[in-house]
Amino acid sequence: MKIAVITGASSGMGKWFAAYAKAFFPEIEQIWLIGRNQKRLQRVSDHIHLNSIILPLDLTDEEDIQAYADLLEKEKPDIKLLVNSAGMGLIGHFEDMSSIDSRKIIKINCEALTNITRLSLDYMHENSNIINLASSAAFVPQPGFAVYAASKSYVLSFSQALSKELKKAKIYVTAVCPGTVDTPFIKTAEKYQNIKGYKKFFMSDEKRVVITALWDAKKHRSKSVYGIWMKLLLLAAKLLPVRLLLMFMK
Ligand SMILES: NC(=O)c1ccc[n+]([C@@H]2O[C@H](COP(=O)([O-])OP(=O)(O)OC[C@H]3O[C@@H](n4cnc5c(N)ncnc54)[C@H](OP(=O)(O)O)[C@@H]3O)[C@@H](O)[C@H]2O)c1
Repeated sequence: MKIAVITGASSGMGKWFAAYAKAFFPEIEQIWLIGRNQKRLQRVSDHIHLNSIILPLDLTDEEDIQAYADLLEKEKPDIKLLVNSAGMGLIGHFEDMSSIDSRKIIKINCEALTNITRLSLDYMHENSNIINLASSAAFVPQPGFAVYAASKSYVLSFSQALSKELKKAKIYVTAVCPGTVDTPFIKTAEKYQNIKGYKKFFMSDEKRVVITALWDAKKHRSKSVYGIWMKLLLLAAKLLPVRLLLMFMK
């Protein structure tokens, strides 16, 4: 069966990837929705009116990762689309954050994304797509958002390298790099410190970011950058010295 696998499907952008995936990739016959919150996954499944199954998994838990591997082994699906949307961030100074919290960010944003991609790849063939949620925070180191920005630099670097490695196999990888997006992510991120006012000014609509990402994936683009401001930030990151960018970010 041709399927889409969407992590982070219980909330924010993940749930919109679930809702719009089939419009862009009509060959998809079933959608696998992954997240920890079973009730919210069920609500998304009911809302999208598509053939979907819910997989309440904590992707930072070894046993749950094994459960995903076992399910793949049992069902042997043909994964046409993998969306790695599960992720989290915490705003604040690194020294104010607990060690457990900073490790949580790396575990879900980097380790889980890498695990799910590796396991899924064995079930992907020609003309399939991987969409990885990076962030515009990947472009520049961010004082006050250091671990998150570094974790998203990992996602961007990994995705771009993978895009080259898998080109011959015709598996296309797109790293999505939005600025601030209006989702529950912000509330979680404000555990230590509130988001800076200027970031709210650049806030994007979640549906638009997702539609742009699906469109860019369909066009086999390795990067999806939503909005003029984030495109300008990317340009600045390429042209200006890091020292200057850090002064600006601060
Ligand atoms: N919103 C923004 O400003 C923004 C900007 C740039 C990039 N991004 C990135 O975009 C992606 C989606 O974010 P969003 O804005 O849609 O955030 P969100 O609404 O908070 O959604 C995050 C999703 O990740 C899942 N998740 C978190 N930890 C998990 C774990 N251990 N195991 C399984 N699932 C887990 C959550 O599901 P459960 O709670 O059910 O587990 C939820 O579905 C993230 O990677 C984020 O870093 C967000």
